[in-house]
Amino acid sequence: MTRTLRIAMNGITGRMGYRQHLLRSILPIRDQGGLTLPDGSTLQVEPVLIGRNAEKVQALAKKHDVEHWSTDLDAEIANPATDIVFDASMTSLRYATLAKAMRAGKHIYTEKPTAETLAEAIDLARIRQETGVTAGVVHDKLYLPGLVKLRRLVDEGFFGRIISLRGEFGYWVWEGDVQSAQRPSWNYRKEDGGGMTTDMFCHWNYVLEGIIGRVDTVSSQTITHIPTRWDEQGKAYEATADDAAYGIFQMTTPGGDPVIAQINSSWAVRVHRDELVEFQVDGTEGSAVAGLFGCVAQPRSATPKPVWNPDLPTTEPFRDQWIDIPANAELANGFKAQWEEFLLDVVAGKEHRFDLLSAARGVQLAELGLASSEQGRRLDVPEITL
Ligand SMILES: NC(=O)c1ccc[n+]([C@@H]2O[C@H](COP(=O)([O-])OP(=O)(O)OC[C@H]3O[C@@H](n4cnc5c(N)ncnc54)[C@H](O)[C@@H]3O)[C@@H](O)[C@H]2O)c1
Repeated sequence: MTRTLRIAMNGITGRMGYRQHLLRSILPIRDQGGLTLPDGSTLQVEPVLIGRNAEKVQALAKKHDVEHWSTDLDAEIANPATDIVFDASMTSLRYATLAKAMRAGKHIYTEKPTAETLAEAIDLARIRQETGVTAGVVHDKLYLPGLVKLRRLVDEGFFGRIISLRGEFGYWVWEGDVQSAQRPSWNYRKEDGGGMTTDMFCHWNYVLEGIIGRVDTVSSQTITHIPTRWDEQGKAYEATADDAAYGIFQMTTPGGDPVIAQINSSWAVRVHRDELVEFQVDGTEGSAVAGLFGCVAQPRSATPKPVWNPDLPTTEPFRDQWIDIPANAELANGFKAQWEEFLLDVVAGKEHRFDLLSAARGVQLAELGLASSEQGRRLDVPEITL
């Protein structure tokens, strides 16, 4: 017995839609013969590629042996054969697409952020509640091998009482004049939904919730370090969005302990780290540093006692004093792993654990981060209820 879910995939000509969702998730799921359901039967996927440019979309469909493609998103949303609507298009178009899809009774799976404003993000969560569809929002960072290991250390009680988290994210995004930029230009225009805070605080919210607990307050300083960039056509434009955000988050663990989290996010920083994002968690019984893939830890019993002495050069090999944390399992691509979980939830008629409400909290943190910077003060993060 095979059941097939037809997935209308919007935005698959984009970076994320193509690479992570089509190439690394849906096509591999299709080509591996689908997923095995708990009753032993098979769940297969049937992607429908959707985009504005017929030539481009048709070429992609042909290249990857996908039977169905379209330039008419609305028709695919309305199509009774469509089971799931997926969206990885531009952020500014997302709310309308998702709202329409859920109202048409379709399950939705979507890139983040779910909306440009908190009001719209909450509205989407309400529509989901009314329609009862299954909705999933990409929370890819929590599926990264490094963060899976970090979460395991939390579950094992490795840290004792968690004290703090510090995150360092970023790399140099080329301005586009001499070397082309490696990210789309809309990311640097506020009016097109761009900006570091809008882009990354929704990730940081679920990372912080998934590793530590609830975010109580935010204080952030955002800035546009590089005011002029060059777009895909080589034309100079004004970067109106923030390209860096320096945030401090007061948090509480489920056990009630206060934690200070601090995350630097910048597209104007050069990398002197092992990975493009790294999180260090310090606790009374031990510390760990996790990146995308790796995770190292240092228990209290193996913690050295450095002594500050500016007169002597550093000889202590600090990086060697950490233990590598093994995966002890095969960890698949995070995007694919979450897709698989979501598809099983759809079949089971269950809510997905990373839902539109979690996404709304991410949008909320981004909004409050921007407001905090603008107002020059720390802001409370109120609980969202539907
Ligand atoms: N989960 C993550 O780690 C992650 C990383 C990067 C981006 N994203 C999110 O993914 C989404 C896409 O980002 P991207 O980096 O792939 O951008 P992109 O510019 O590469 O892709 C955007 C897609 O939207 C389409 N599009 C652009 N303008 C349009 C318009 N006016 N009408 C209809 N379609 C239009 C493009 O054709 C393309 O398919 C964004 O919402 C972004 O926030 C998520």
